[in-house]
Amino acid sequence: MCGIVGYIGYRPAYPILIKGLKRLEYRGYDSAGIALIQDEVKLYKTKGKVKNLEELCKGIDQTSTVGIAHTRWATHGEPNDRNAHPHYSPSGKLAIIHNGIIENYATIKQELTSRGYEFQSDTDTEVLIYLIEDIMVNEKVDLVKAVQMALRTVIGAYAIAIVSNDDPDTIIAARKSSPLVIGMGINEYFIASDATPIIEYTKDVVYLNDEEIAVINRNTGLRITTISNVETTPYIQHLELSLSALEKGGFDHFMLKEIFEQPRSIGDSMRGRLNLKEGIVNLGGIRDMKDKFIHAKRIIIVACGTSWHAGLVGEYMLEELTRIPVEVEYASEFRYRNPIIDKDDIVIAISQSGETADTLAAVNLARQGGATVIGICNVIGSSIARATQGGSYTHAGPEIGVASTKAFTAQVTLLTLMALMIGKGKGTISNTRFDQLIKELGTIPEKVKVSLETDKTVIKIAEHFQSHRNFLYLGRGINFPVALEGALKLKEISYIHAEGYPAAEMKHGPIALIDEHMPVIFLVNNNELKEKIISNIQEVKARKGIIIALVNEGDNCVDGLADYTIPIPETDELLSPLVSIIPLQLLAYHIAVMRGCNVDQPRNLAKSVTVE
Ligand code: G6P
Repeated sequence: MCGIVGYIGYRPAYPILIKGLKRLEYRGYDSAGIALIQDEVKLYKTKGKVKNLEELCKGIDQTSTVGIAHTRWATHGEPNDRNAHPHYSPSGKLAIIHNGIIENYATIKQELTSRGYEFQSDTDTEVLIYLIEDIMVNEKVDLVKAVQMALRTVIGAYAIAIVSNDDPDTIIAARKSSPLVIGMGINEYFIASDATPIIEYTKDVVYLNDEEIAVINRNTGLRITTISNVETTPYIQHLELSLSALEKGGFDHFMLKEIFEQPRSIGDSMRGRLNLKEGIVNLGGIRDMKDKFIHAKRIIIVACGTSWHAGLVGEYMLEELTRIPVEVEYASEFRYRNPIIDKDDIVIAISQSGETADTLAAVNLARQGGATVIGICNVIGSSIARATQGGSYTHAGPEIGVASTKAFTAQVTLLTLMALMIGKGKGTISNTRFDQLIKELGTIPEKVKVSLETDKTVIKIAEHFQSHRNFLYLGRGINFPVALEGALKLKEISYIHAEGYPAAEMKHGPIALIDEHMPVIFLVNNNELKEKIISNIQEVKARKGIIIALVNEGDNCVDGLADYTIPIPETDELLSPLVSIIPLQLLAYHIAVMRGCNVDQPRNLAKSVTVE
């Protein structure tokens, strides 16, 4: 949700900043802008994507070796040139970029306006840089001190970077609740919302902590203080991220690449954790908490979006294998409803980015309540990963397409491993069932590969239904969340209205929508509920609905009933979401492409939602 990038060193900053913005465009693409220190701080900014900014910057002096840049997901003020970042201070000597929300900006703006300041934009960010300059002038302090004082005044979330005419050798950056990483090169420094714009140049990074300010000087290097002016020691981490993971690798879109990566990414999520030879599941990040799990009275899963759907799959899995009651909560609801939290509760926060504001707030609330809080995150070093007491990384690799795909299957894989490990430790799963499940889990990457072979069938279905305006997705049991996730994928990237429902619940409402124009996607698994779901199919058929059925290979149970079938490999019921979600991801992808939608950057969405 807004991407920020900065560079100071010996090379021209412009190409580094533009490339960095492109890597961060998944975070927002309403407008883009750049500040370069030429003779003085110069701003170039425009509505729309980074390529519009490049167009605007053709012919400008690109020799400056210091600059900051921003790609925006609008919160305060419509996406236009005026509201695009960077923003100048009143004198034009300072420029700021910002990711986050200054919640008390209106009060500060009123106060500054009453003292004669005139604002150029509708943003909260401009208020912050006005406040900083106002403090510098009135309190007669330097920029760092003024930033510290201003940040003690503001309420909200921020990752900011500031450059100044008076000190062209310095970038000042700070963060609270929005991510910020500093890349430590040799005689050069980078800042960014995540490490993706940086790793091309250096893998040594420092993650700034909440309420820390970094003063990055070309000659003297990095100095970090808190907003209360306490000096802290930078902790340099070495990242193992490869550049190829950030490229499309021959695919038309990141989303398609990420869908096809799943046999590998699911395998990576299990690597070193599932030992088939010895029949062991071991998650190092929660090993020390095994006792807590065994004695837990309840597990609460908090998440948003696709991660919430993974949480729902996890609920079926954990309850079945560990017999611990599980509740799955939207983090945004959990955090504001005075939830009952007990010290014997385990709270699992699931988040691909590890930065989702609501999930992070839910983590903090659960910790205050005394629960044991663990994370399932994909981004290493992310805020949620750091705010939790333990947990496991999904190791799916960078997910860049805004619509989440491989992160979902990685999260479900992790939850499966977790349920197996706890169930075994607790004795709620028999040795035979444990062995059967881990053996089957080992075959999942291969089965996902086979499920990806449905692509050609799915393309034909997509061609046929690309112009339909509504879709219904129905599943039962552990495949109900898959129906929700399939519907979400279609909504997100093709802008077609789609609903996921438990198949039997259809009778209580959605059945009224069914006519000859309504495609209904059924997830039919070979289990004890199969006959029941076939009855649901009959009910749709009787009302002339169009039936698209996902069935297990070789199963002819929907012959004569379904208009289209998508055969997928059979697996254990508990593991089936990993296989059945694949054709639904592909369907959403192909329909969106056929409708001319920008699948990697769907309108109004952002990958990392760092505002509530
Ligand atoms: C946004 C993204 C979704 C994602 C959700 C939660 O809405 O577009 O793809 O599922 O945030 O994000 P998280 O990073 O916490 O999993």
